[in-house]
Amino acid sequence: TRPLKAAVLGCGVVGTEVVRRLHETRAALADRVGAPIDIAGIAVRDLERPRDLGVDPALLTNDPLELVKRDDVDIVVELLGGIEPARSLIVAAMEHGASVVSANKALLGEYGSVLHETAARHGVDLFYEASVAAAIPLLRPLRDSLGGDDVTRVAGIINGTTNYILDRMTETGGEFDAALREAVERGYAEADPTADVEGTDAAAKAVILASLAFHTWISPADVYREGITGVTAEDVADAGRQDCVVKLIAILERAGGQHGIQARVHPAMVPRTHPLADVKGADNAVVVQAAGAGQLLFRGAGAGGIPTASAVVGDVVTAARKRLLGHQETFTRATATGRGIPMREL
Ligand code: HSE
Repeated sequence: TRPLKAAVLGCGVVGTEVVRRLHETRAALADRVGAPIDIAGIAVRDLERPRDLGVDPALLTNDPLELVKRDDVDIVVELLGGIEPARSLIVAAMEHGASVVSANKALLGEYGSVLHETAARHGVDLFYEASVAAAIPLLRPLRDSLGGDDVTRVAGIINGTTNYILDRMTETGGEFDAALREAVERGYAEADPTADVEGTDAAAKAVILASLAFHTWISPADVYREGITGVTAEDVADAGRQDCVVKLIAILERAGGQHGIQARVHPAMVPRTHPLADVKGADNAVVVQAAGAGQLLFRGAGAGGIPTASAVVGDVVTAARKRLLGHQETFTRATATGRGIPMREL
């Protein structure tokens, strides 16, 4: 089988880790997929910037359009963020027959349904598991595993930066600005962290979750949105005195008939006993309520380069497998034993 070729657009916090993982685990991924996935090129804004990617520097280009139009590119991984040029590049990639993997919540929130139509028209796939809750497998479970159920409510913490800030404010009694600086330094925040703290990032993610939970697209403008810039150290302390923590929560639920959806993002007082209360740092957690499945909790790393790259590369593997439809993974046999492990150890 010929190697598959993946083009990576954007090489920031997430892109760097995606390139590393594709490169360093090439052989293992080839076994799982049925063919190696080679990097066709990496589009960057600044060719001069020193980077420690471990790949041939000749793969770097500052011409993303030329890269996505190459005939041999099977999968385009869009990690640019923002609407343009990401949207045009994705459309060009699809027109040239490439499947697309994206982590771009702003773009998917605004243009998700249109991009799905474009993908269908060109017979290619579009995956974006990393766009919501980073490493937590959430979109595919909603779409596939719960595809036969009726989801009635989705509520959760879907922005790591604001959770980090509120967590620091709760633990140290500190103020907002210092905590935001730390979140930026750790690579959790958006290029413009206003999107995080004003709730815009969470609202875009809420739209994506609504589309999967309720099989319909709403507009980000329809999401009631209130960020955390107004939350003070005093508010956080006050919540603590009432045995609550302050969290930025996104809530989606059916309301007002078959097609009505209520969508909101705002700070909320969460009782300490609630499953969302002890979600720490940049972690995310989402509680899904479905008619048949009951209540399900998804929880884990919601931001950061390596966790987000985990979900992106997972999508690349899925897209690659679909390009090679018919390949069955062969599993090597190993022996497993529970002996020798002291009882009662978790
Ligand atoms: N800025 C985002 C967050 C990154 O803090 O959640 C992950 O989508």
